[in-house]
Amino acid sequence: MKRTLRMLAAVLTGLTFAGMAGAQGAPAPQAPPDYSVFPCLSYTQACGKVATRPPVKKALDGPLNGNPEKGKQLAQARNRGNCLACHVIPGGSQPGTRGPDLSHFGSSGRSDAEAYAMVFDMRTVNPETLMPPFGTNDILNEQELRDVVAYLLTFR
Ligand code: HEC
Repeated sequence: MKRTLRMLAAVLTGLTFAGMAGAQGAPAPQAPPDYSVFPCLSYTQACGKVATRPPVKKALDGPLNGNPEKGKQLAQARNRGNCLACHVIPGGSQPGTRGPDLSHFGSSGRSDAEAYAMVFDMRTVNPETLMPPFGTNDILNEQELRDVVAYLLTFR
């Protein structure tokens, strides 16, 4: 009985605070946690103590020759490209929003070679990017990279 009362009190307190936060708008922003004590994959920060492959600026060799249909499978498969973990992609469900919305990537003026280099290793564009280096880390092979890029370029 005593426990039930205590639980009820906790729930009511929670509701009161939730109500107050709602009345005053969004909760106050908190300072980001200090992750510097943990090892990280960065190759520019002091925390970068985990061995990782250095970034590779890969030039596209010859015409793209990618298959957008295969690229779609690879990009959306959770156990392959898993681009939806971070990007909105046309027709893709439950996207994450950590990366930019790619819905109109094909209209962004990027050449085949630029798009390919980004997916191959985004660290060549932003050293601190969150995006996995799909080419450098052999997550996608050469033809798979071309297929994914061909798919991205169909987004108008
Ligand atoms: C862990 C998160 C994450 C995953 C997974 C991810 N990306 Fe990204 N991506 C990002 C972030 C963040 C950016 C913004 C660039 C930066 O980091 O500065 C980005 C940028 C991009 C861009 C450049 C967009 C622009 O207009 O400049 C492309 C293209 C892209 N990603 C394609 C992909 C593809 C294709 C996949 C899957 C094969 C993928 N991404 C998976 C996080 C991710």
